[in-house]
Amino acid sequence: MDDDDLSDGILGAVLDAAVDAVIVSDARGRIVRANTAAARLFGHEIDTMPGRPVEDLMPECERNRHAAAMERYVRTGESHVIGIGREVEGLRADGTLFPLHLSVGHASTDNGDYFVAILHDLSRRKAVERSLQHAQRLEALGALTGGVAHDFNNILTVISGNLEFLKRSVTDKSARTLIRDAMEAAKIGADLTAKLLALGRRSALTPRLLDPAAVAKTVLSMLKRTLAPGIDLRLVVEPGVWSVQVDPMQLQTSIINLALNAQDAMPKGGSITVAIGNVSVDDRFLAEEVHVARGNYVRISVTDTGVGMDEAARRRAFEPFFTTKPKGRGTGLGLSMVYGFAGQSGGHATLYSEPGLGTTVSLYFPAATRMAGEEAEASAVGMPSESGGTSGRKVLVVEDNDAVRRLSVARLEALGYRTLAAGNAEEALALLGTDRDVDVLFADIVMPGALNGHDLARKVTSEHPQMSVLLTSGFAGGIAATAAEEFPLLQKPYRQSDLATRLRILLSRRRG
Ligand SMILES: Nc1ncnc2c1ncn2[C@@H]1O[C@H](COP(=O)(O)OP(=O)(O)OP(=O)(O)O)[C@@H](O)[C@H]1O
Ligand SMILES: [Mg+2]
Repeated sequence: MDDDDLSDGILGAVLDAAVDAVIVSDARGRIVRANTAAARLFGHEIDTMPGRPVEDLMPECERNRHAAAMERYVRTGESHVIGIGREVEGLRADGTLFPLHLSVGHASTDNGDYFVAILHDLSRRKAVERSLQHAQRLEALGALTGGVAHDFNNILTVISGNLEFLKRSVTDKSARTLIRDAMEAAKIGADLTAKLLALGRRSALTPRLLDPAAVAKTVLSMLKRTLAPGIDLRLVVEPGVWSVQVDPMQLQTSIINLALNAQDAMPKGGSITVAIGNVSVDDRFLAEEVHVARGNYVRISVTDTGVGMDEAARRRAFEPFFTTKPKGRGTGLGLSMVYGFAGQSGGHATLYSEPGLGTTVSLYFPAATRMAGEEAEASAVGMPSESGGTSGRKVLVVEDNDAVRRLSVARLEALGYRTLAAGNAEEALALLGTDRDVDVLFADIVMPGALNGHDLARKVTSEHPQMSVLLTSGFAGGIAATAAEEFPLLQKPYRQSDLATRLRILLSRRRG
């Protein structure tokens, strides 16, 4: 082995070991070498990378910037990236764009000039930043409204207190009517400020140790009498659900708010499912997804089969005064109040919704039951080791949301599975046509295209009876409940250990 072999071998090992993408290009901007991380990041086959112009990996606007920067560097030796780095956009093989951090090194050799680019994927960080901004925006709005409401509440207290005094001493009938009207208006004002205080997390809460299922039962029996006739109301309680320490009145109000929203979303009727269950947030993925600290929570979800929300409505749904209802029908305070209450109670609220399919709003409250918490911790410790027994098994991930799909692939790879990924049912079927050794289909239920995940699962099991199927969905009830009658279902958001266990059970059942 000579020095060149050695350095080439070492260079190869360095490139393979790098988590970030590394791309070496020549002075003409042709790729001469790329590591596996680079191929994976941009979605190209590794052996198709060399010879490609680096511009293939950039969107149009970056191409011009890149050409100008190269020209300037060659002419003046001046660079805005070498040794500094900057944020740019990358272009994947499938045409999608993603944010990345680029830093570049330059080498002059006897064979000419070379540039080494190190590229770090920023998609995940950006996604976290975006949702953090969203949470901060809601918090700022809440603080502002809550502050105003607090002052108003004091003013209203004085007004209604004085009116009450006045009413006692006034005997004139028409004067008493005026006082009564004024008191009613003050009461409406007080109701409104109570909502504003709730969304600003400034309610005077009286938390009590309670069984969430019992509260839900009371609310549902009341709602059953008031909801429109075409609406089917169901309560699904996981056995052994933990207690929570929350304000019972506000919890009732929250469930009522969510049920009324659900009813409004189903003018032609449909079903509302209130589901209550335990959730241990013990992995990073899950904590990031639901924005709570690690720990044990009780989740109360309200799912409907209504009109759902588009992206714009989803983004703003928790904002105070956001409403799509006609004037006089909605104040836009229902969801923001629920969001504020969940936050003030040490929990959080999340939303899944798809136009035309329905909506799930989930409330997370910290579990108060000590015993239950300890049990969960013990079982988390004893959870299946991350990668044992999974090696060589191949999972086909079908998910339309790019970020979620990449996350699922990362999670499965961390568990030791080989993966294939598709963005919709058609793509998945095409992959299955050429790749015969897929063990598990792991598909999201709600996807655009002719087939949803449930249809895909049916088709796949009839055509490839040897394959196992695991479906996933953000919905708790509705379309997900129908699919769950036929296939195993993992409800989003899920823990890494839940994913591990479900796959392991599926695969062992198949072996047996
Ligand atoms: N279950 C749902 N399905 C579809 N859209 C919903 C659902 N829940 C809420 N929304 C959308 O979010 C908006 C805000 O809801 P929110 O409960 O905060 O206010 P509102 O229902 O319009 O008025 P309010 O609750 O104050 O009477 C609604 O106007 C609607 O567009
Ligand atoms: Mg509402």
